[in-house]
Amino acid sequence: MKRGTTIYLYELAWILPSFAIPVGMLVALVVTAFGAGVHLPGVEGRIDPRRVAETAPFDKPGVVEIAPGQYEVRMTAQIWSFAPNEIRVPAGSTVHFWATSKDVVHGLLIPRVNVNVMVLPGQIAHAQARFDRPGEYPIICHEYCGIAHHTMAGRVIVEAKR
Ligand code: CUA
Repeated sequence: MKRGTTIYLYELAWILPSFAIPVGMLVALVVTAFGAGVHLPGVEGRIDPRRVAETAPFDKPGVVEIAPGQYEVRMTAQIWSFAPNEIRVPAGSTVHFWATSKDVVHGLLIPRVNVNVMVLPGQIAHAQARFDRPGEYPIICHEYCGIAHHTMAGRVIVEAKR
């Protein structure tokens, strides 16, 4: 092969992936977003942040069984706690979290079950998770919310089926 041709092929070997990789990423993004419905948690509703304590369902924070094996958690976040901060469900439950903030920006993170949302004043956040394995799952505030941010936590206790 002539030297000029070799250089051309070498350039082509670099140029093609530099187009193919971003195109592949874009395709993956479109397929997961529109085909598989994977998207970031969005705003599920609005609420007056000054009236959270009087607004249903956040006037009665807690855990409610909405169907067999389905639980709804109505949760408020405030400096520096979650209400409720301890949630008990049997193994195999699906838990729907509805959360809002009474004051500043908080986060709601439950590792191992893929719950990761911001909890903002004025907005209602939603996330759901299935708890198959018995054990204790920490609930963590992962948005800096002030001097005692690191103490803001709770837990989900998943009980073995009797
Ligand atoms: Cu709430 Cu950090």
